[in-house]
Amino acid sequence: MKAIITLVCILTLTNLCQGLTLPSGFKKCDKTKSDFNPCLSTAIQGAIQQLKEPQTEYGLPTLDPFVGPDDMIVEYGDETTGLRQKYTSFKFNGLTDVTSTSASFDFSTKTLHLNITFVEVVVEFDYQISGWFILYPVNVSTTGSCTLIKPLFKLAFNLEEYEFEKQSHYRVAGGGKLNFFPEAIIFDYKDIFKKGSLTEEINKGMSENWKIVTAYWQGMFPRLFMDVFEEIFDELLKRVPVPDLFDGL
Ligand SMILES: *[C@@H]1O[C@H](CO)[C@@H](O)[C@H](O)[C@H]1NC(C)=O
Ligand SMILES: *[C@@H]1O[C@H](CO)[C@@H](O)[C@H](O)[C@H]1NC(C)=O
Repeated sequence: MKAIITLVCILTLTNLCQGLTLPSGFKKCDKTKSDFNPCLSTAIQGAIQQLKEPQTEYGLPTLDPFVGPDDMIVEYGDETTGLRQKYTSFKFNGLTDVTSTSASFDFSTKTLHLNITFVEVVVEFDYQISGWFILYPVNVSTTGSCTLIKPLFKLAFNLEEYEFEKQSHYRVAGGGKLNFFPEAIIFDYKDIFKKGSLTEEINKGMSENWKIVTAYWQGMFPRLFMDVFEEIFDELLKRVPVPDLFDGL
């Protein structure tokens, strides 16, 4: 990665190493204006929608579809006494179909809060399950998807400020949160049981109980996917100094 950045610096002679301004289509907001938060909301929504295309210069991947990194793995359970499950190869569709965004940034605590509503977010994954369902042996490697209908994502990013090349920068301090509130979820795990109708019944039952399932997941994995979203945001912050993020500082 370092080598690539150095190469980009040399090739383009942009001042990448000293900092970039915001990507051309990204809106810049004035801290001193009373409409700062509404402006930021519009800016962030616009930025997300633009990420149908990647912004490679800024280290930003395409968000639709967003292909999760290889280390995005969710694994839990015990195959001796129950079921061990492993989710890998995540792919997210619909992350740029945003219907509303509400953002607020607190300059004193450096916390960014976001409420983002999407039309539909489809999470696809590879899935392994092995162990015992009652006393029925299960050992399957398959795929599946969850479709979140009109989900609201509530995100919180904690930032911290530091100096780099005499310029002020933000970076993600970690410990952020992501909670999601869909209006329904449709589960579609493939071929868990040899008898197709059994898999169908399980999917139907999970979809009917989407509220309980959501609460269970959020309890089990309170920071689910947040590491990755923090890393992506950090890529932008790394390259754009604070005075190029906001006006009126
Ligand atoms: C997000 O929504 C909650 C209510 O669900 C509200 O309390 C909070 O202020 C909102 N945050 C932003 C950044 O709009
Ligand atoms: C499950 O199947 C894989 C091969 O598909 C095999 O390597 C593994 O040992 C099996 N596990 C159990 C518990 O039978």
